[in-house]
Amino acid sequence: MRFLSTRRRHPAAKPLALVLALFVMGGLYAALAPATQSNADTTGQAQIAQGKDLFELNCSSCHGLNGEGTPEAPSLIGVGAASVDFQMETGRMPMARPGAQAPAKKTLYSAEEISAIAAYVASLGTGPAIPSEDQYSGTGLDAKAIARGGELFRANCSACHNFEGGGGALPNGKYAPPLTQTSDKHIYEAIRTGPQQMPVFSKGVLTDQDVKEIVGYLNTLHDSPNGGFDLGGLGPVGEGLWGWVIGLGGVLLIITWIASRGARAR
Ligand code: HEC
Ligand code: HEC
Repeated sequence: MRFLSTRRRHPAAKPLALVLALFVMGGLYAALAPATQSNADTTGQAQIAQGKDLFELNCSSCHGLNGEGTPEAPSLIGVGAASVDFQMETGRMPMARPGAQAPAKKTLYSAEEISAIAAYVASLGTGPAIPSEDQYSGTGLDAKAIARGGELFRANCSACHNFEGGGGALPNGKYAPPLTQTSDKHIYEAIRTGPQQMPVFSKGVLTDQDVKEIVGYLNTLHDSPNGGFDLGGLGPVGEGLWGWVIGLGGVLLIITWIASRGARAR
C-alpha cells in the first residue's frame, strides 16, 4: 500500500531534511557574517580611501576638500560617523541647494557608500560612532520604562518637537520635524549628534538606557505599525535580518523540494 511505503521512507527523510537545513543555515551564516562584520568595524584604509573619493565628489564643494568647512557649510572634523550616517540616510546630505534647513528626503546613496563616507569623516576626528542595535532598540521595554521615556521626552524634547512628537516651527523659517516616522537608529543618532538647532545630548546627559526609553515611547506614537521601517536605514543590523529571512526562505524551499522529490520517487 502507498501509505505503508511512505511510512517506511519517512524516518530517514526527516532527519536528512533537518541536517540539510542546518547545513544551509550554517553556510548562509558563514557567508553573511564576515560581510556584516566588516561593515560594523569599518574595514580600515580601503574603505576610508573610497570614502575620501566619494566625499571629494559629493561633499567637498561645501564642506571643504578635507572636511574643514567653508563659509557655505560647517567643518565635519569630529562630528563622527553617526552624524554622516544620520544626515545621509535621512537624505538631508548632500544638501541640494542652500536654504533655511536641509529637509529629509529619500537618499540616493547605497549603504556601502554611506558607510565609506562615514568612515572617512570618522578618520578626520573622534566623534560619535554609528550605534549598534542594543544601544538604541526600544523594543522589549515594559510599561514603566516607556512611561519614563515619555517623561524624558517631555522634559528634553517637547519644547521643539511638541508633546506628541508632532514637530513644530522654530524662528527664521526653521522647524523641528515630526518624529512619528523616524527609525530607532536615527532617533539615537539625532540625540547624539544634534542636527541644526537641536542640542547634542551626550551620554552624561541622557544615558543609552534613557535613549532607549525615549525610543520606546516614540514608537508608541507611530501612526502606522511599520512607521519606523526605513529602507534607507538598512545597516549591518538590517542586512543580518534579511540574511535570516532569506536563509529561512531557502530552507523552506529545500524542505519543500525534498518532500516533493520523495513523493515523486514513488
Ligand atoms: C550645498 C552644500 C552642501 C553639500 C553639497 C553638502 N553639505 Fe553637508 N551641510 C551643509 C550645511 C549648510 C550644513 C549645516 C546646516 C544643516 O545641517 O542643514 C551641513 C551639515 C552637514 C552635517 C552635520 C554636521 C554636524 O554638525 O553634525 C554632516 C554630517 C554633513 N553635512 C555631511 C555631508 C556629506 C557627507 C555630504 C556629501 C555626501 C554633504 N554634507 C554635502 C551643506 C552641504
Ligand atoms: C531646540 C530644539 C530641539 C530640541 C530641544 C530637540 N530637538 Fe530634535 N530636532 C530639532 C531640529 C531643528 C531638527 C531638524 C534638524 C534637521 O532637519 O537637520 C531635529 C531633528 C530631530 C530628529 C530627526 C527627525 C527625522 O525624522 O529626520 C530626531 C529623531 C529628533 N530631533 C529627536 C529629538 C529628541 C528625542 C529630543 C530630546 C531628547 C530632541 N530631538 C530635542 C530641534 C530640537
